[in-house]
Amino acid sequence: MNSSATQKLNIQKVESSRIGQVDFSNLTFGSTFSDHMFECDYKDGTWQNPTIKPYGPLTISPAAKVFHYGQAVFEGMKAYKDDNGKVWLFRPQENFLRINKSSVRMAMPEFPRDIFFDALTTLVKMDKDWIKPGLGNSLYIRPFVMATQVGVGASPSTEYKFMILMSPAQAYYTGDVKVVIADHYSRSANGGVGAAKAAGNYGAQFFPTNLAREKGFQQVIWTDANNHEYLEEAGTMNVFFRVNDTLLTAPISDRILDGVTRKSVIALAKQDNIKVEERPVLVSEIVEAAKNGSLKEIFGAGTAAVISPVCAFSYKEDTFDLEKQDDGFAARFKKELLDIQYNRSEDPFDWRFEVV
Ligand SMILES: Cc1ncc(COP(=O)(O)O)c(C=O)c1O
Repeated sequence: MNSSATQKLNIQKVESSRIGQVDFSNLTFGSTFSDHMFECDYKDGTWQNPTIKPYGPLTISPAAKVFHYGQAVFEGMKAYKDDNGKVWLFRPQENFLRINKSSVRMAMPEFPRDIFFDALTTLVKMDKDWIKPGLGNSLYIRPFVMATQVGVGASPSTEYKFMILMSPAQAYYTGDVKVVIADHYSRSANGGVGAAKAAGNYGAQFFPTNLAREKGFQQVIWTDANNHEYLEEAGTMNVFFRVNDTLLTAPISDRILDGVTRKSVIALAKQDNIKVEERPVLVSEIVEAAKNGSLKEIFGAGTAAVISPVCAFSYKEDTFDLEKQDDGFAARFKKELLDIQYNRSEDPFDWRFEVV
């Protein structure tokens, strides 16, 4: 299904930037967009007409298949500005590989590497003033693909649109996160689409997450759909458990998103000689560890918040509080990741990607 079009990128610039109208000290995550966006259409078996143009609305038929069958996948990544004004991405090839993996699972065509990187770097360069320097400030980048063929027949679309939007973001403080361990609803199942960043995976979580919110918890930690015995991941984060000084996290499977932050934390932990076990983690062992005091930390890992420490979790009728750890693993990995992302430290793994 892969097809490559080595086509020149068309560029249509805005007449005047909207940047002066934006209050960068008061941004709501993901709701303000930079001046330009990228658009490329798949038709007649090939990706064509890659274009950067002013951010704005689309005209799409209400019969486009994306609205009826949910053929849509996306990515989330960030651009960072260092103290000298240089702009960096973090492991962008991972996002490129993952969006194509997601597309394949949803019977959608893969996107060509050359157009992806040309579009991404050109777009970031054009809108680089939208990235404010300072730890925590970034430009959140949202590549996505949707089925645009007109027709409500339940079959894969023959036409698609690949787009990239960019949204300035401030440090994303989740505060103290309280989570519920799922014992009824499921996010994904064996053989399903959990490992894909498919749009429907997220819509399906809103209802059970709302139920958790009504009880005063912010997120759900999903468990295996068979018996709800094993801990898997949170809504937009992979999850780590520190038991004594060992870090536990669920292995990647077709139910779990292969997170870039997760694999980076594992690499940093191994570099720091911290014992990491990627293996099925039982709910019962974490409940037991909470009871006997060996559970030191739980934290989420994902692009949006980087690392989110969990201060309490509930399982069935019980709630367990975790002691705040100012110099724990979560704080340590967050600092190590931010230092690499913002070009404040060495980059031993070659994760930084210089844009301009
Ligand atoms: C379901 C899910 N798990 C984990 C993650 C974390 O992945 P990453 O670290 O690549 O952002 C995300 C966010 O992309 C996600 O949506």
